[in-house]
Parts: sequence; structure tokens; C-alpha cells
Amino acid sequence: MNHIMKQFFKTLFIFLIGTQFSFSQVRVVKELDTDWKFQKNKNEQAFQINFDDSKWENVSVPHDWAIYGPFDKEVDKQTVAIVQNGEEVASEKTGRTGSLPHIGTAWYRNKFTLPQFEKGKKVILLFEGAMSEPQIYLNGKKVGEWAYGYSYFYFDVSDLIKEGENTLAVKVSNPAFASRWYPGAGLYRKVSLIVKNKESINQWGTFITTPFISREVAKVNVKTKSSGENVQLITTIYNAEGKEVATEKATEVFGNEFEQNLKVSNPIVWSPENPYLYTAKSQLFVGEALKDEVSTRFGIRDIKYEPNKGFSLNGEVRKFKGVCLHHDLGPLGTAVNKSALRRQLTILKDMGCNAIRSSHNMPSFEQLELCDEMGFMFLAESFDEWAKPKVENGYNRFFEEYAEKDVVNLVHATRNHPSIVMWSSGNEVPDQWGEEGVKRAKWLQDIFHREDPTRPVTVGMDQVKAVMESGFGALLDVPGLNYRVHLYEEANKKFPQGFILGSETASTVSSRGIYKFPVQQASMKQYDDFQSSSYDLEYCSWSNLPDDDFVLQDDKPWVIGEFVWTGFDYLGEPTPYDESWPSRSSYFGISDLAGLPKDRFYLYRSRWNTKDETLHILPHWNWKGREGETTPVFVYTNYDSAELFVNGKSMGIQKKNSSTPQNRYRLMWMDVTYEPGTLKVIAFDKEGKQVAEKEIRTAGKPYKIVLSPDKKIIKADGKDLSYVEVSVVDKNGILCPTATNQLKFRVKGNGTYRAACNGDATSLELFHLPTMKLFSGKLVVLIQSTNTAGNIELSVTGKGLKRGDLNLSSSN
Ligand code: GAL
Repeated sequence: MNHIMKQFFKTLFIFLIGTQFSFSQVRVVKELDTDWKFQKNKNEQAFQINFDDSKWENVSVPHDWAIYGPFDKEVDKQTVAIVQNGEEVASEKTGRTGSLPHIGTAWYRNKFTLPQFEKGKKVILLFEGAMSEPQIYLNGKKVGEWAYGYSYFYFDVSDLIKEGENTLAVKVSNPAFASRWYPGAGLYRKVSLIVKNKESINQWGTFITTPFISREVAKVNVKTKSSGENVQLITTIYNAEGKEVATEKATEVFGNEFEQNLKVSNPIVWSPENPYLYTAKSQLFVGEALKDEVSTRFGIRDIKYEPNKGFSLNGEVRKFKGVCLHHDLGPLGTAVNKSALRRQLTILKDMGCNAIRSSHNMPSFEQLELCDEMGFMFLAESFDEWAKPKVENGYNRFFEEYAEKDVVNLVHATRNHPSIVMWSSGNEVPDQWGEEGVKRAKWLQDIFHREDPTRPVTVGMDQVKAVMESGFGALLDVPGLNYRVHLYEEANKKFPQGFILGSETASTVSSRGIYKFPVQQASMKQYDDFQSSSYDLEYCSWSNLPDDDFVLQDDKPWVIGEFVWTGFDYLGEPTPYDESWPSRSSYFGISDLAGLPKDRFYLYRSRWNTKDETLHILPHWNWKGREGETTPVFVYTNYDSAELFVNGKSMGIQKKNSSTPQNRYRLMWMDVTYEPGTLKVIAFDKEGKQVAEKEIRTAGKPYKIVLSPDKKIIKADGKDLSYVEVSVVDKNGILCPTATNQLKFRVKGNGTYRAACNGDATSLELFHLPTMKLFSGKLVVLIQSTNTAGNIELSVTGKGLKRGDLNLSSSN
């Protein structure tokens, strides 16, 4: 960002640390992040101003009260038949919502001070999500309430706010049987206060679209809603370098809306490869006096969905190489953290992923900002339930009263993000059955269209036969199929749209670094250790293997892409071990709960990342006790063929071929006999030329701890994180892939130990305690900055191991 832009943003948003802020600017946005008091349990009087909260816990927001555990089998234990999974008989599901203590009621209280508050100012209290059923009180009076824990919402609190000290109190309640995954608990997204003039731009009042784009020129349409009499609006567009590229003054207001068309010459279009962003500055005047100023980032880009042609971005047909993500951030729980989100996207970018689906709810603003900046297309979803329940206390309780409000807020708050290319009104809603459901699908889609005529709407459908019959599938802008690869052809014939989206695909299960024998395809396979095999051949009764989707993506031009379930493991839903305590997090992830890539990462990377080389060998080669036994070797690579050597002996050349989906996308040597030593692979290009090689070796005993951070310098903002990968190696520096040593972590200096995670879905060790066992030789430690810049030292110790030391630093 250059100097002009920096100045510009500085004058727009003043984030002052502490509880005091002043009003010299026309608009002040103050994040209420520090100095919160928190207590779980009933405190029915806690909304009152004089309530004594001095003994309550001090917390900062975003906050997830449940992530600190302990894991407990009894929490939200659900004795149900999961109909979506084809179950007919109820059974006890222990880890379904993560087994962390998220059930119950809690209060948050925050005291903040407004100096010299002028009467007549408008004050907005904005919540970016509160889990769940929040009730908001200001200065002892009820402000309002919301229901859905994933919604963004705000209240005008101008009448309740006062000069001097104000007391904000928020009650949140999580009933049991309300979710199918770990929902988190509390004020897990930002809370802010916006102070502006009576004459001002409405909350989420700007809507920017780019209805015409050519090489020479883009038409930028800006609709701006405002309040106040005799207002005039100047909109100025800046390019990414901060240079002004267009400006226009509007004096005509229709209702409360200005509409302007600005011309940007030689526009640079937004795409995943070149995520170029413009900024529109909206200034509201009464006469000469500036009354409000808001800046909105946007992109110039064109999206189209056409029969037989599919999806195109800026005129270029392309497919979604997408992943579904739940909102939890593994060891951080659901407390949103931009640095953690950025790491996820960095890992996904390297895999070649170009799209994200926020399953099955509204994404965080932080995630959308990052997708705009880093170049990911986004499918923004809203609901997992409509009026018919999947879980007893799910969204079905609120659908009638809230669905329209929730959709309106989703669209208004996020519609200027160029990354969003599609909305989803629902995921596998049981309303796919019956006439009412067809009406609801249309009703919701119409609301999306009314609020945003520029993007299509999908629903992730699993009842494909039913929606083909009922008309449900035909009325959607984009028919999305969840799994059901065998029905794609038929659905495409029956549906009128002329294309199909794999709105949710694969649900292959695996545990990082764990391999099972014999190596064979299996559905709902279970083992005594509650792990799934990383040969990537295990799936669920309703799902399939990655290769089955690749075939459709590659062979059917009318399939417009896929969103794999899921990019990362998440808390809860430990299929195929839903009934097996202590399994408490998922096995679906391409990377594990710690963000460490499983083998599957390289399978997707070999196909999706078309720029970089992928040459990955599995399994590991430490099989004491398997000497002489058949131990298949797979190679995931972008190359066409390769030769494998065990201790220098050739195991022959394998070449990708179409005999089976797996043979088309993986190189597999099924008859390798295990002997310790070296596995080496040499890859060939299409002409048979040797182009790359890789080897892995049998490791000796764990000897030394090795630390490798994703970032050596972090920001001294009290929020930034460095993810340090911790592993152990033998005397020769070879990774020990089966090590399970118990390690201890110590952080000194200007950083704090935040959490650790090893990706083991059955581990009951708590993330925030400074000790953890390695899982398959690895784990990740998260170091958080403080507000003071300086050095940070991490030391990791383990019995009988040479310790690991690492120096990091933080800067302003
Ligand atoms: C889908 C569902 C997801 C998840 C997944 C597991 O049917 O939409 O939320 O449950 O199955 O395979």
C-alpha cells in the first residue's frame, strides 16, 4: 500500500486501543475486543449496570468458551439415526459436536467509555456472529436479540447510548441437539461500535457491481443508501496503487438511494490468478460539510453460467477446484483469527485450490477479505436446515421468523466481495422432500435475487431422485449435487440448466500417516485404533473416492467443478467413528486438524496445481515387523509415469491409464515387498524423459526435535500467529514417521504459547495446555504475538530427545 492509501485508510478507520475513543472523525469504528468479562451459567441479572462482575473471567473477543475443554463423552451425546447418512436405527453418537463443553448459557459484559458524546450522533452496534441466540442489553435495557449463531446483525443503539461509561451485556445460549458439528460457543466473531452522523451512509448501504467490462472500459455501478436530508454523494474510485481512476458527484436521491455509474478505463479484472482490487470512497455531504465517509473494496469481474458451456470468469471457462470448510480453526476453536485463516488459504493455494464453500453457513468477513486478496472464488452458504429438522434444536426453530432477515444480512454485508461468485440457500435440507420444500427453495432464491441480481443461487442436494421429480432441482439457478456421482448424467438430462455443480464431493476418510493392510477400497471401514487408512481408498456409504469425481470433472464439460468435503479436518462428525469414543473430530480433511497435509493433499495437488511439480510417495517406510510382507506403494504426481526402486531394485514402471479411476490418477505398485532401506521414485514426462526423482528412507530411533515455523516474524498486534511444525528425526536427520513422543512447550519473550494440535482425531489432550504427544511423528505449536515487539523463544523438550529451540520475533 502506498502512502496516499495508508493516509486514506488511517483517516477512515481509527482503531484505538483501550476503552476510550474520540470523535474528531466523521465516522469512528471501534472494535470491542478487549476488557470483556465472561461467565458461564445463569446470571439472570447480569444485564444490569450495577451488576458485580469483578470476579468474572477476563477475556478478549473473538472468544470461544468451549475450546478449553475438557473433552467429555457426555456433552451433547446424541442418540439418533442420521437419516442423511442412510441410518434407520438410532444409536449413540458421542463426538458428533466435538465433545467440548459448548452447551449452556453464558454472559459477556463490556464497559466502554464515550467522551464528549454529542447528542444526535448515530451509533450502531455490530455483531459479526454470536453463538447462539444472543440477547443484547445496553445500560440495563434490552437492545434486541437474534437467533442464528452464524448471522451478522446490528442494532441502532443511538437512543440507549450515553456519554461516559456504557455497559454492554450479551447473553448467549446453546441448547443441546442443535448442531451436526462443533458450533463453538460465545462471541466468536468481532463486535464493533460504529459512531457516525445523523446524515450518514447506511450500514452495508453500498452495493457495487460491474455490469459492463471490456478491455478499454468498465462500467462501475454504485448504489448507495443513506439517511438524512439534503445529502449529496461523491464516489471516488482508486486502483490498487491508490491512484484515483474515477470520480462522480450525485445529487439526486431516489427514496434513500443514490445510483451512479463510473467509468474505469483499461480495467484490471479480478481473478484467482490476479486478485486485483479497487477501492471506492463514498463521501456524503450536506452543502460543503463532509458528513460521512466509507470505503469499500471491490473487484471488476464478470461471471456467467451458461448451458453446456458452464461457468466462466471474465469470459474464460473454468471449473471450481474447491473445498468445503467448516468455520472452526482446529485448536483455536471457532474464535475467528485472520492469521489462522490466511494459513489455511496459503496451504490451499499451494494445492491449486481456487474456490471455497462456507459449509453450511455464513463465512466470516475475515475469510472473505482474504479470498478477495489471495484469489479464491467463494460459494457463500446460509443454512443447513430450513423448516424441517435434521437435529431437534436446529435452525428449523427459527426458519419462519428469521430466514429472510438472515439472507438479507448475508447478502448486504458481503455482496461487494468479488470472490463471491454464487450463493447457496441450503445444504441437504430435508425440505427436498415434499411440495412445501419446492416453494421454500423458490422463496429463498427470490430473496437472494431481489437483494443481489448478479449472482446465482444453488442448493447442495443429496436427494437427487426426489428433486428430479418434484421440480426442486429444476428451479435452482445452479443445480448442486452432493455426492451421487452415479446420478450426474441423469440429473443433467432431466434438469434444464445445462450444467451440474459438484456442490459437495468425495468425503473420503483418512488419518495422516496411518496405513492399513491389506490395501483395498472399503466403505465405512473401522479399525481398532479408530483411524482410517491414508492409502485414500476409504469412503462412506453415501460418498466416494477423489478419483471418481476427477473422472466426471475431466470428461464432462457440463460439470462445472467440485467442492471437496473437506479442505481441513474439523471438530465433530467423526465418521466412520460416530459411535466410537474417543473419536471427536473428522477424518474427511485433505489436511488434518492441525493443517498438516495428509497424503490426499498431494493427490489433489497433482491435478489442481498445474504450475508446480508434485511427486509424493506413500506410505512411509518404517514397517518393523512387516519385513517380507506385501506393502503397496503409491505415488501422487503430475507426471505421467514413474519407476520405483526398493533399495536400488526396480519394481517396474507404472503409467497412468484409464483402466480404473485410481489407475488414471495415481501410480500404484501393489506387489512391493517391504524391506527397510530406501524407496526411490523416478518420474518421466509424456515423452518418457526422466524429469524428477524423490526418495524416502527408513528412519532409526527418534533422536532430535526439529522446529520449522511458517513465519519467523509476526506482527506485534496480540493476534498474529506463527505455526511451528514440530517433528522428530533420527541421528541422520530422517523424519521418524511413527513417533508418538510426549513433548513439552515453553515460550519466552514477547509471545505466548497459544495452542498445539497433532491431528489425531481420537486425542483428548487439550489444545491450550503446553504438552502434547506427536501423532505420526508430527504436531503443530501455535505461538501468538503480544502487543509488544521483540524476540520470542520457543523450546520443545521430550524425554530422551535432543531439545528443539527456535527464535522468532514480532514487529510493529
Ligand atoms: C454431507 C453433509 C456434510 C457432511 C458430509 C459428511 O452429506 O452435507 O455436512 O455431513 O456429508 O460426509
